Amino acid sequence: DKANYRHFMAKEIHEQPEVVGHTLARYVDMGTERVMLPARLPFDFNDIQRISITACGTASYAGFVAKYWFERFARVPVELDVASEFRYREAPLRKGDLAIFISQSGETADTLAALRYAKSQGAHTLSVVNVPTSTIARESEIVMPTLAGPEIGVASTKAFTCQLMVLAALAIAAGRGRGELSEADEAKLVHGLVEVPRLIAAALTTEPQIEKLAREIAKSKDVLYLGRGTSYPLALEGALKLKEISYIHAEGYAAGELKHGPIALIDETMPVVVIAPYDRVFEKTVSNMQEVAARGGNIILMTDAKGAEEATVESLVTIIMPDMAATFTPIVYAIPVQLLAYHTAVVMGTDVDQPRNLAKSVTVE
Ligand code: F6R
Repeated sequence: DKANYRHFMAKEIHEQPEVVGHTLARYVDMGTERVMLPARLPFDFNDIQRISITACGTASYAGFVAKYWFERFARVPVELDVASEFRYREAPLRKGDLAIFISQSGETADTLAALRYAKSQGAHTLSVVNVPTSTIARESEIVMPTLAGPEIGVASTKAFTCQLMVLAALAIAAGRGRGELSEADEAKLVHGLVEVPRLIAAALTTEPQIEKLAREIAKSKDVLYLGRGTSYPLALEGALKLKEISYIHAEGYAAGELKHGPIALIDETMPVVVIAPYDRVFEKTVSNMQEVAARGGNIILMTDAKGAEEATVESLVTIIMPDMAATFTPIVYAIPVQLLAYHTAVVMGTDVDQPRNLAKSVTVE
């Protein structure tokens, strides 16, 4: 049932304050401001020398964001792979290390095969899944469910933000377990997480502006997405979302990689979406924007009020996001990224919920 929405994707985008809130309530004790994992872990984070994260598509970008969080909060090295590569390259896993798998459907063939491989190597397996009865959930040693509810649109939206919420909680737990986060650090991070559902609701109010912008984007043949730090995986996600539902070619790049090749593509016909909350790498991203502007590129800047004030570059459109702690911006900036893909696809007249050549659950390799 699409409620009053034209597409499931629109409905699922708008459900995010609620379902991310449900997921938060499952993993965080608001009273004590501590993370609480639903299951007792069969290992000690202190014994984990390395974490591997494996998934496909959008789920892999959630894992990519989580890599930054695990490394920052818990100082544990994280290796990230797409499942189709991980399963065949026979990655050396140490017995007792932690292997995390992320999947909305819990049935993705490559992710399942990667899970079976990790098990065969003696790793602890933990899956973040949206379908609790799925094969990946059943075969994992530890299951951390996302409470997104059924996701019908082929393009993953609410599952992604719920995956990020679960992974943030897990990364905080890892930081605590390894003694890298004090109680006060943890409380501060939990505070930040608790704000996220409200911030997502605020981010949804950018929709009319994005709808207008989508009419411009729909005229383009190619779109470039740039980001640094945790905004980099989000740039990859933005490009994936746009290409899969609007069929407009898009690429996501680490902003710092621009001058190593993709800058050659920039002209007045290629919009450049820059995801840049005002954080510790903001100034660096501004200099990349200057490089784009100097070549006549049209910049669409997603930032907050402070960023808009400090960005010394002319942008075509600036999407002002709510002020928030820098750590969890990817969960909130996912909203304008999803809305831009959605409205562009609507303008293009594509089948938004059932894009050509794609299946919701990829059970063949
Ligand atoms: C993109 C998308 C796909 C899935 C990928 C993994 O919007 O939906 O990239 O994220 O096929 O699927 P799951 O999460 O079911 O393993």
